[in-house]
Amino acid sequence: MELYIDTANLDEIKRAHDMGVLDGVTTNPSLIAREGVAYEQRLAEICEVVSGPVSAEVIATDFEGMMAEARERAKIAPNIVIKLPVTPAGIRACKALSDEGTRCNMTLCFQAMQAWLAAKAGAFLISPFIGRLDDISTDGMDLIHQIRTIYDNYGFSTKLLAASIRHPRHMLDCALAGADVATVPFKVIDQLLKHPLTDVGLEKFLADYRAAFGS
Ligand code: E4P
Repeated sequence: MELYIDTANLDEIKRAHDMGVLDGVTTNPSLIAREGVAYEQRLAEICEVVSGPVSAEVIATDFEGMMAEARERAKIAPNIVIKLPVTPAGIRACKALSDEGTRCNMTLCFQAMQAWLAAKAGAFLISPFIGRLDDISTDGMDLIHQIRTIYDNYGFSTKLLAASIRHPRHMLDCALAGADVATVPFKVIDQLLKHPLTDVGLEKFLADYRAAFGS
């Protein structure tokens, strides 16, 4: 499973990148707005740090507007992936852009047949939002299982990118379910390495070393 970070914060992106395990970045308008910087400038800055796919969402909701914005965003860097909502206009734009060779990430996916249409339209990535489904008392993981089955049944090459991940248990479930990519906030990447027995064990190793060999 590939690891993307879900943030527009440059410091978090650099810290995850420095670990050497980061495959890409997803952003959305809310995440970039939180940073208080110009939208396209931040996308360009992210692409200077990460060479893997960087998702850049369009703001337009109509087909022509989406196409115009997508073409502008695609000029920022070769690793930009255009992020579009799974609406009728978004699916149409996905098909047109994919036919031109521009990679698309179809976002705000909350039911499996949206993912099926996105794959038919040639999407590079589909983003089902697990956490937001859990928030309304619907099991987000069911959606991951359904999309995995449909994509495998028909041999679609669209990558299943699990999004709206809230905690390490989501990550584990996604890996077991065969998600191709998980995009997570920095906080969750940090939590993945946390275990009390790791901390206690390390403390003991170091204490034993110091007792025997000095500091
Ligand atoms: C995905 O690309 C989205 O940016 C993201 O995962 C949304 O997560 P949230 O539900 O925590 O806002």
